[in-house]
Amino acid sequence: MSITAEINAAATIVEKTLELILPQAEHQPYAQLLDAMRYASFSGGKRLRPYLCLESSKLFGVDPARARRAAAAIELVHCYSLIHDDLPAMDNANLRRGKPTVHRQYDEATAILAGDALQALAFEVLADSKTHDDPFVRCELVSGLAKAAGAHGMCGGQMFDMLASSNAKLDAPAITRLQRMKTGAMIAFACEAGAILGKASQQARTSLYAYANDMGLAYQITDDVLDVTGERKTTGKDAKKDIANDKVTFVTIMGVDQAQAQAKRLSEQAVSHLADFGAGAEGLRATALALLGRKS
Ligand code: IPE
Ligand code: IPE
Ligand code: MG
Ligand code: MG
Ligand code: MG
Repeated sequence: MSITAEINAAATIVEKTLELILPQAEHQPYAQLLDAMRYASFSGGKRLRPYLCLESSKLFGVDPARARRAAAAIELVHCYSLIHDDLPAMDNANLRRGKPTVHRQYDEATAILAGDALQALAFEVLADSKTHDDPFVRCELVSGLAKAAGAHGMCGGQMFDMLASSNAKLDAPAITRLQRMKTGAMIAFACEAGAILGKASQQARTSLYAYANDMGLAYQITDDVLDVTGERKTTGKDAKKDIANDKVTFVTIMGVDQAQAQAKRLSEQAVSHLADFGAGAEGLRATALALLGRKS
């Protein structure tokens, strides 16, 4: 199976778990919120983070049912982050995954609340004993996701991104830090979650973290390249939003070719961190390289 087919197969599996976890919209006076949570979660994302969680779980022999719950929780936080990222106060985007963004489909209040509720649901899922029978493992998952999504992770990165207009004069190390926070932290946690569930050694965790850190940065650089070179019908997002929003990215400071070369270097470096893992990590290796050529 090609790596794309593998990621798609994992997406189908995790979508079944999301289907069970997300509340049904029927017969509630606040049904619009539940409906919007589903709209944002079933809009056709690539489900990269769930795939990473399932693959890292496999390395440590984790029960697939547990891995699927952790993978779904991570995707819920990711979907929340996209809803809020698209709001008029942030990137002001009208299109996401080829469909109207949540605030365009519903309204801003619904989008804010749907994001909040998806995030809360993610922690509810991780705290449930169905995710792991050992409460220490559950606490570690909850704490890991909170750190990845929080002030020194995704949210901090998003704040940094909002403040980083072209006159902020950020250099490559500063943009690296910004992107590692806004995108890398959640990708790193997706890999780390398998290690937590499987009570993996510190050495294995460190290697996985190093892989994810480089891969996550390469992933965001490719996203920034696609903002300039991609087409709306394949990315599912309006093109050239970063320039319109005066964002500072690797593309704005070094151009498309250099940014692509940087992403390639980082992906190769990511793969090198998995040297100790053997054949079980083939999916993770192939993912880092395949994502360089993604069109969406
Ligand atoms: C979009 O993430 C935002 C970034 C951090 C680059 P994805 O490109 O993984 O979005 P979906 O989930 O596949 O739509
Ligand atoms: C968003 O980055 C990262 C998040 C934490 C949601 P972008 O703003 O570049 O993502 P897109 O291009 O809108 O998907
Ligand atoms: Mg953004
Ligand atoms: Mg955006
Ligand atoms: Mg982008």
